[in-house]
Amino acid sequence: MSPSRRTVLASAAAGLAATAAAGQARAAAPAEGNGEGPEVFGHLPDGTEVHRWTLSRGGTRLKVLSYGGIVQSLELPDRDGEYVNVSLGFGTLAPYLTATTYFGALIGRYGNRIAEGRFTLDGTAYQLPVNDGPNSLHGGDRGFDKRLWDVTPNGRSGLTLRRTSPDGEMGYPGTLEVRVDYTLTRDGDFRIDYEATTDAPTPLNLTNHTYFNLGGEGTGSIEDHRLEIAAARYTPVGETLIPTGELARVQGTPFDFRRGKNVGRDIRESHQQLLYGQGYDHNFVLDKGITGAPRHAATLHDPGSGRLMRVDTTEPGVQFYSGNFLDATLTGPGGRVYRQGDGLCLETQHFPDSPNQPHFPTTVLRPGETYRSTTVHSFGTR
Ligand code: BGC
Repeated sequence: MSPSRRTVLASAAAGLAATAAAGQARAAAPAEGNGEGPEVFGHLPDGTEVHRWTLSRGGTRLKVLSYGGIVQSLELPDRDGEYVNVSLGFGTLAPYLTATTYFGALIGRYGNRIAEGRFTLDGTAYQLPVNDGPNSLHGGDRGFDKRLWDVTPNGRSGLTLRRTSPDGEMGYPGTLEVRVDYTLTRDGDFRIDYEATTDAPTPLNLTNHTYFNLGGEGTGSIEDHRLEIAAARYTPVGETLIPTGELARVQGTPFDFRRGKNVGRDIRESHQQLLYGQGYDHNFVLDKGITGAPRHAATLHDPGSGRLMRVDTTEPGVQFYSGNFLDATLTGPGGRVYRQGDGLCLETQHFPDSPNQPHFPTTVLRPGETYRSTTVHSFGTR
């Protein structure tokens, strides 16, 4: 299943040569390095500049904003060497400031939902902002996705993003020092390393919220993408998408992606869980559990373009969200309107609502401990 990057790159070069000969316009393979950044992408309402950094290596080109640590663009070649942006987003800063889709963003302090925004930690009750029906989602109404990060280049093709989340921010306890490294490896893999420390116990569940469409953003539905998820169980939810606490078997349900199937194959079944989520919006319990090094979680393939992405993680879960709430109110950088199912997320994470579900793996970070989490996206074609 692992894509052979060398083969991919060779065929990409051949594809470019063939195209040039045929005289058609196509995006060129990116020049390597991180020397292109930063450029000014826009300004916050108070006038602060937001920068955009560009990384290129191993046939992958990544554009990252200092606002929200947002992956604003991820360009990959198809099987003929044609580069397109496979991540949903916006061409300007303004819509990122107000949208609640979390396109490409870093999510914290707590990726996913906490029931009624409440939890008790060491005997103290905390109330978080409620921003998704009765629940708190993705760190509250101004989570890490809506903050400016301090970005510095790191090595040949990497960025280090840092921020201090003050005690009490969005209701969470403790001053949290967060560091996220975005790296393009020699093979063009996109690696994300998260690290954090705190001066008081706090729940923490960091992730990245990129929406993928391997055919290119704005090209339509991801229902024909083939998805494999290495999970025999998932966490079913109630109607506000809080886990019931059960770790249910996927076998014999629309949630069985173990052998790979098209995203759209079962999405219209009248299964109660699909009705609650308006599609897939569920945490899959990865068979491998929590691991010291990233291990296989999911593989996504677009048969049309041939583009393939494999996701490996140290996390025990992945939220597969099939872009159900995209409702034709937002327009991507290519000028196309996003409709339901035009992109999908594979958010590596601990399980939703863990602070209220004692039998889920703990998400509490304590002083003296270091939070570490890694997710690697590797790309190829087939
Ligand atoms: C959640 C969805 C939500 C989306 C964007 C996902 O992580 O699971 O329910 O609509 O983020 O807000």
